[in-house]
Amino acid sequence: MQTILITGGAGFIGSHLTRLFVTKYPSYQVINLDALTYAGNLENLKDIEHAENYQFVKGDICDAALLKKLFTDHAITGVLHCAAESHVDRSISDPLAFVRTNVIGTVTLLHAAKEAWKGNMEGKLFYHISTDEVYGSLGDEGFFTESTAYDPRSPYSASKASSDHFVRAFHHTYHLPIKISNCSNNYGPFHFPEKLIPLCIHNIINNKPLPIYGKGENVRDWLYVEDHVRAIDTIYHQGKIGETYNIGGHNEWTNIALVKELCKQMDEKLNRTAGSNEQLITYVTDRAGHDLRYAIDATKLKDELGWMPSLQFEEGLSKTIDWYLTNTEWLTNVTSGAYQQYYEGMYEGR
Ligand code: NAD
Ligand code: DAU
Repeated sequence: MQTILITGGAGFIGSHLTRLFVTKYPSYQVINLDALTYAGNLENLKDIEHAENYQFVKGDICDAALLKKLFTDHAITGVLHCAAESHVDRSISDPLAFVRTNVIGTVTLLHAAKEAWKGNMEGKLFYHISTDEVYGSLGDEGFFTESTAYDPRSPYSASKASSDHFVRAFHHTYHLPIKISNCSNNYGPFHFPEKLIPLCIHNIINNKPLPIYGKGENVRDWLYVEDHVRAIDTIYHQGKIGETYNIGGHNEWTNIALVKELCKQMDEKLNRTAGSNEQLITYVTDRAGHDLRYAIDATKLKDELGWMPSLQFEEGLSKTIDWYLTNTEWLTNVTSGAYQQYYEGMYEGR
């Protein structure tokens, strides 16, 4: 019998993770704590909202009193910590929001777990979900391994690196049982359209420009979100306490090549003339401090725990596009109102 607190379960990765744990482990109680920021959306969890082993709590991970009450009222045995401010561009315009949630929020949560589990850490686990961006930026060669030195270069990655350090510090200082995973770029259903892939899908549907930062030569290593949460499940249950695992897709694409593949697939799916979507590509001012390349070496996860990505990228991208074309109401809802203001502010004058 386990009671698991998932933070940020109404976000992109959190909603896939919550669905996996609620459906795969009916004997676990799953509590989803989410502040429902612009990125949190209960629509992402419609299919499981009435499940008997699931409950939603609206709240902030910086709220120490709420966390204490949650740990007191429920015999929480595990934490899957997903809640974060997650968008690099927003971290450049508002770094303090990232310090608040990603650093102070994580430490507040660590403290609540430590206090609740004090004297009985047996069978408990604090699992911190982190990013490959903590390792900095690669040149044309090489990969990030678990022993690559941290070198965060954006306010977002600096806040995530800081949170990783605090998680390890709580392990070493207070013997809190922890695990950390650092994953590459995710894509798939329920991805908020401020991020490259859903932003371009949304803009292609609406015949709007596809903004490519700089020359489009930056490289990301893309992983289908369901493969990521499957890896988290594997590490949660089989990984070693105190260890870090890198998760990646072995799937590097330059941004421009990726967007061209997206254009091609969507020409066919939308019955548009071949090459017409590519006309929407627009080169815009580069992101400040734009990291050139991320690429993960996930050998440890494969060799020790047997995890491998299951989907080829072209297939995953096709599934993702189909999901957005089918779920037009979801896309319309999240892109109305505040998103329009964000979009105009972020892309105006680029
Ligand atoms: P997201 O922005 O889609 O979702 C974040 C969720 O956290 C939202 O539901 C939001 O409401 C919630 N949240 C934000 N601040 C909160 C607070 N103070 N208290 C409670 N809830 C709060 O993010 P995502 O892309 O799903 O990323 C989830 C985690 O995975 C993050 O920690 C991120 O750093 C990490 N990660 C993301 C990727 C990726 O490609 N998206 C890759 C590797 C790691
Ligand atoms: O590597 C993991 C990280 O991946 C996660 O930790 C972050 O939470 C997640 O947002 C993602 O960060 P990126 O900055 O790599 O993702 P994003 O989708 O914002 O951008 C992907 C690439 O596309 C990056 O090189 C910037 C570029 N880009 C992005 C946008 C939004 C563009 O060229 N144009 C755009 O409009």
